[in-house]
Amino acid sequence: MTDKDFKRYTITSALPYANGPLHIGHLAGAYLPADIFVRHLRLKNKDVVYVCGSDEHGAAITIKAKKEGTTPQAIIDQYHNQIKKSFEDFGIAFDIYHRTSSAIHHDLSQEFFLNLYEKGEFIEKFSDQYFDEEYQQFLADRYIIGTCPNCGNDNAYGDQCEKCGTSLSPTDLINPRSTLSGNAPILKPTKHWYLPLDKYQPWLEKWLLEGKKDVWKTNVYGQCSSWLKQGLQPRSMTRDLDWGIDVPLKEAEGKKLYVWMDAPIGYISATKQWATDHDKDWQLYWKKQPNEVDNACLIHFIGKDNIVFHCITFPSILHAHGDYILPTQVPANEFLNLEGDKLSTSRNHAVWLHEYLEDFPNKQDELRYVLTSIMPETSDSEFTWKDYQARVNNELVAILGNFVNRVMILMHKYFEGKVFGGEKLTNQALYDLIGKAYDDVDGYLTEFKFRNAIAALMDVARLGNKYLTENEPWKTFKENPGEAKDVLQNCLHIIAHLATLSQAFLPHTSKKLFAMLNVENNTLSYDQEIAFADGHQLNPASLLFEKVEDEAVEAQIKKLDDRKEWIAMEDTAAIIPSKADITFDDFSAMDIRTGKILAAEKVAKTKKLLRLTVDTGIDQRTVVSGIAEFFEPENIVGQQVSILINLAPREIKGIISQGMILMAENSDGKLTFVAPKEEFGVGSVVR
Ligand code: MF3
Ligand code: ZN
Repeated sequence: MTDKDFKRYTITSALPYANGPLHIGHLAGAYLPADIFVRHLRLKNKDVVYVCGSDEHGAAITIKAKKEGTTPQAIIDQYHNQIKKSFEDFGIAFDIYHRTSSAIHHDLSQEFFLNLYEKGEFIEKFSDQYFDEEYQQFLADRYIIGTCPNCGNDNAYGDQCEKCGTSLSPTDLINPRSTLSGNAPILKPTKHWYLPLDKYQPWLEKWLLEGKKDVWKTNVYGQCSSWLKQGLQPRSMTRDLDWGIDVPLKEAEGKKLYVWMDAPIGYISATKQWATDHDKDWQLYWKKQPNEVDNACLIHFIGKDNIVFHCITFPSILHAHGDYILPTQVPANEFLNLEGDKLSTSRNHAVWLHEYLEDFPNKQDELRYVLTSIMPETSDSEFTWKDYQARVNNELVAILGNFVNRVMILMHKYFEGKVFGGEKLTNQALYDLIGKAYDDVDGYLTEFKFRNAIAALMDVARLGNKYLTENEPWKTFKENPGEAKDVLQNCLHIIAHLATLSQAFLPHTSKKLFAMLNVENNTLSYDQEIAFADGHQLNPASLLFEKVEDEAVEAQIKKLDDRKEWIAMEDTAAIIPSKADITFDDFSAMDIRTGKILAAEKVAKTKKLLRLTVDTGIDQRTVVSGIAEFFEPENIVGQQVSILINLAPREIKGIISQGMILMAENSDGKLTFVAPKEEFGVGSVVR
């Protein structure tokens, strides 16, 4: 699919939001495939830069900060570092892992905005948006919840209902509430700068619909063409927010760039920073060159939820600017599920990378192997711990590990680990098959078929195993040591090829193989074949992979199950937004006492109301309470309660109600009395 041989490659992986740690879905979606692809290009001696970084703006960050009661800056610092470390741990070979909070990125993003602004590209218009009067701010989509018009879920967000998956805009919600104050927001006009995607539609139809047909993966092309068929609308590139990059216009004071305007520019600013650090020219990797053949090949690795931004919005921005190249490929992956359920950060249903390494130290390649083997390339796929165990035990241990181990042990046993020299495989059939494996890997990776590519690598180990088993050097050694030597020597060459070929997929394993072979340079390119000198000394065999035991798998499954229950409880509590702050004086103005119900009866002609006589310690008074659906009057006589006694009296159904009984209501709408646990005496102050 990238059949043209490019001079240079610019490879990007989606910038993860710095609002949480990474899980296996991230790795399988946008990082592992890019890393394999980049390593492969480097092995082919290509000129490539691979950039990524943290996405540090937008509501994703501010909401997390609010939830944790801290600042956006503290959130991005914490998670940027944690994410960076996970990438390093798993060997993701970025040339730079940058961040969008950097000055170089703010400057470049503003420069882009001004470039388009000065060309008159933006449509400037006022629109009504939700505004929280109490907090005096406009509300980002995620800050508004309300009832989903599609399924009736009461806690749908302004951009999406997580229950039925419908994507929404805030004004679609029934009974919208602000998550800041809990109040209904008002609509208020505000000015924004819109990218005229409708104007670019004809150009997109030519560049994308015509130009990328049968070139881009069908899952990517399909999504794009359905967007284009629906017809594109202008999209606002600015927001009323207090966290992000300032819109560089006087009249836009207090407004920020839309996070999806600045984030993809982060690829370019990261490249700029890398170029500065390494004395390179970043423009060669991003700008159109005088001769088209000198342009770089730009490839964005992303998950499917990012397709529209990388295939439509960002290319439109680059096109409007005019100086930049456009993506050659956007090999988006679908989603990875976990044990029958969607991966979810908010529900903590995930295998977190840092936790995985705590439970399986130094087993990065095992995870890399499994995730590559089940990569969601064309449709969603599923990770299960049983499958992980099976693939590690039956493939890595039984095939690759076993082959290498047998050869190394026999070499040491019969020949004291000494090689007899000789450059190549002496068996022509083997030689041809291994040559084909290199071609297969290259062919598959060019088409982003990572599953097939890693299977081709594994086939080389299978081939070795078969060859070894068929030739039985442990039997021939006695009568014909020369033949045994020849067989083992061929096997050693196969291991050398495995070391080279596995560099892209299993870099940690590759290092171990080179170490066993006692070859110092452990980053070869494909064209540097290993030639052993006569008498070359091998290192002792070391264990490549260990079996995953049933207990380990069961423990992981249990961990996920335990979390599910815990989260089910957490979720309901988290969803109800808190009300606006009150002062301590507001609080102490309420006089709440312990009391006891002396008598209870139904209020005639109502379903919900009970007329209660309550002993407050100060007096006996009448309270009308809406709890009749939950309690029979005779069952609550003698019940201890908490009662707000200085609530102004109200007339309800002709009865003067003096006070309010405190009840707790859970997510099922069930009620319970809020009262002292033990017999406490009436009239005690609650505070
Ligand atoms: N942070 C976004 C996400 O996690 C991805 C941003 S990719 C970029 O969905 F192109 F904007 F950088
Ligand atoms: Zn819904």
